[in-house]
Amino acid sequence: MRILSGIQPTGILHIGNYFGMMRPAIALQAKGEAFYFIADYHALTTIDNPETLRSNSRRVALDFLACGLDPDRATLFRQSDVPQVTELAWILSTVTPKALLERAHSYKDKIARGLPASAGLFTYPVLMAADILIYDSDMVPVGKDQKQHIEMARDIALKFNETFGGGLKLPEPYIQAATETVPGIDGQKMSKSYGNTIDIFGEEKEARKRVMSIVTDSSPVEAPKDPDSSTIFQLYTLFATKEETAAMRELFQRGGTGYGEFKKQLFPKIWEYFEPMRKRREEILADSGYIDAVLDRGAERAKAAANHVMMRVREAVGL
Ligand code: TRP
Repeated sequence: MRILSGIQPTGILHIGNYFGMMRPAIALQAKGEAFYFIADYHALTTIDNPETLRSNSRRVALDFLACGLDPDRATLFRQSDVPQVTELAWILSTVTPKALLERAHSYKDKIARGLPASAGLFTYPVLMAADILIYDSDMVPVGKDQKQHIEMARDIALKFNETFGGGLKLPEPYIQAATETVPGIDGQKMSKSYGNTIDIFGEEKEARKRVMSIVTDSSPVEAPKDPDSSTIFQLYTLFATKEETAAMRELFQRGGTGYGEFKKQLFPKIWEYFEPMRKRREEILADSGYIDAVLDRGAERAKAAANHVMMRVREAVGL
């Protein structure tokens, strides 16, 4: 089984990325042949500084490896090291209805947030379909916000197969339940674009400050509190054991504990969870050629798989 996912190198990875995409992807590396890539072509829709793009891409590779991606099991590579994917994107664009792209939530959200409506932003889902289809992917683990993009990849593959008599494999999305529930410090979905993140590998002082500034309601210390509507509690459940979570639930409901105290319990849970990964990250950083060697090997494997599908596609369309 081929498992594939991509992550955009648009910024510093946060715990929403971790639970939404990285952790499920890392867990899946034992279940099949995993292909994970850094979506640098996609990031060009929002980054126009070459230094930023290069350093972010390396950093995503580093953080992924630090969090447990095993390059002997999974193939880690840069999207742009397999330029064949842009050829497939072009071919797919010729069978993609414009109306399909006009329905994309993600495009509409980005425009609403003030991003210029470039053709690249509009055709983003076509490149993403090419990413998936060029590796004959069976399963695509992603956060909930990417579900529509995977459905579009299926629609585009179907349309291609109808038009040219087959050739592309239909992928299945794999949505991790926890991804729906990683709130940011303001209670909205954790996202770089909302400025409400807690970074995986941030400074301790900054991370503590972010946790201490989680937005709460104004219930007094003595009042019983609703754990299920609390951002503090929701984050705690991601890091604590079942027993610890049950104990905190009980304290919330009993009253007599203020939100500040709950935040103080939450912070060390987050900090300790990532401790082994911080260690591993230091080791990788000390080994200067490591990241490049991993990415080079990944690129070779990914290219071989992509060439395979492209031969089929070129033959099918008459190129
Ligand atoms: N659009 C995805 C995101 O922003 C990243 C991505 C690009 C991707 N191509 C992909 C994810 C292919 C899965 C499969 O998170």
